[in-house]
Amino acid sequence: MTENTRRDFIKRTVLGTTAFLAYPSARVLGANDRVRVGMIGVGGRGQELLKQILEVPNAQLVAIADVYGRRRDEAKQMAPGIQTLDDHRRLLEMNDIDGVIVASPLHIHARHFLDTISAGKDLYCEKTMTWSIPEAERCLQAAKSSNRVIQIGLQHESSGALSSAKKWIKDGLAGKITQVESWMSRNTPHGKGQWVRPVPPDCTAANVNWQAFLNGRPDQPFDAYRFINWRLFWEFSGGNVTENMVHQVAWIMSALNLPVPTAAYMSGGIFSEKDGREVPDTLAVTLDFPNDLVVTWQSTFNNSRYGLGERFLGSDGTIEHTAGANDMVRDNSEETIRYYPEKANRPDGAALNGDMPDENHMANWIECIRSRKTPNAPVDVGYRSAIAAHMANLAYRHKQRVTTAVAKSTQPEF
Ligand SMILES: NC(=O)c1ccc[n+]([C@@H]2O[C@H](COP(=O)([O-])OP(=O)(O)OC[C@H]3O[C@@H](n4cnc5c(N)ncnc54)[C@H](O)[C@@H]3O)[C@@H](O)[C@H]2O)c1
Repeated sequence: MTENTRRDFIKRTVLGTTAFLAYPSARVLGANDRVRVGMIGVGGRGQELLKQILEVPNAQLVAIADVYGRRRDEAKQMAPGIQTLDDHRRLLEMNDIDGVIVASPLHIHARHFLDTISAGKDLYCEKTMTWSIPEAERCLQAAKSSNRVIQIGLQHESSGALSSAKKWIKDGLAGKITQVESWMSRNTPHGKGQWVRPVPPDCTAANVNWQAFLNGRPDQPFDAYRFINWRLFWEFSGGNVTENMVHQVAWIMSALNLPVPTAAYMSGGIFSEKDGREVPDTLAVTLDFPNDLVVTWQSTFNNSRYGLGERFLGSDGTIEHTAGANDMVRDNSEETIRYYPEKANRPDGAALNGDMPDENHMANWIECIRSRKTPNAPVDVGYRSAIAAHMANLAYRHKQRVTTAVAKSTQPEF
């Protein structure tokens, strides 16, 4: 495919999805009614979310849809009463489902997002909200013109640490914050690239609906490695900024109530394991924001010593949030949030430890389905963090500084 036809193709597939003329009306839930949930995509993350939903009181998992037979079987073992389907459209036709959890690969999020909203269901959509900027615009628009309850899988938006940071910032303890440093570091054994998963022997063309996985990407022969390891390839993934930076950028944006960045820069490369992947494993991202703020995020897959964290550097104090060397997903690393006064401007200030409790992100979504309130990670933060991630990737791929206007007028490329 030539570059032009490829671009046209992407434009058509990105913008040519479902038309939104009317939304089916959803069931009105009483305080004691069970919220009935369906899931699209029950792979690694989907199975973690499946366990979470089973633990939320007064929620019931009714059905799942996945294009890979093995995943349907695994889900059925975890929740024997559920219906398993091989096509997400059949799941969305079910009248007895109130909300849908989407945990498919990144390049299919927009399709599943839009189809779910247009079926009149509430939505929990894994991060990053979309694979591209035009998709993010379209999803935001669809969400705003619906009355659906939408939670993005940015679970750290429900953390007590974020509540502490917001409070300290609101109370003026940090003064004028001009810079936020953030980082995320992991390591992997020699010869085993980060994220690479073994291909199960039953991952064959007979057991996978490859066309549904491609979701309109240029036709290509079934490739089990790409299906299982979609994260490594631009066609399906946004690499580490959409896998991990997005969590931290969303967190920083929420703490400081930030809009989308005005510009992004990103350098790096494939330095850790040259295993055929396309997305970089070593990154330094700079995001410019209005009102005198620069946010940096750096990441390596070659050293885990400093774990992950964010430092808000203000004229009157510092807010430091750190977690250990483990990833954010499993929540198994020690997490601290602390405030340190700057003696120059707050000579009598005292250091503080954050002690606000975490909320359960999944339970928050279910509660909001009942109350119709806005969840902790609404579409708006999903949108802004997605734009920041895509601007960073554009800067990396074009090897230049990218402004918001340029990013929004650039067609996404594989
Ligand atoms: N919030 C978090 O902390 C967190 C952690 C890990 C992953 N994630 C996100 O979750 C998503 C899934 O990641 P993963 O690691 O579980 O990937 P995965 O490949 O393990 O799972 C994806 C699942 O989707 C299925 N699938 C593919 N195409 C489909 C289609 N058209 N319809 C229905 N099902 C389809 C696959 O068969 C697979 O079971 C990604 O967006 C990822 O970024 C979020």
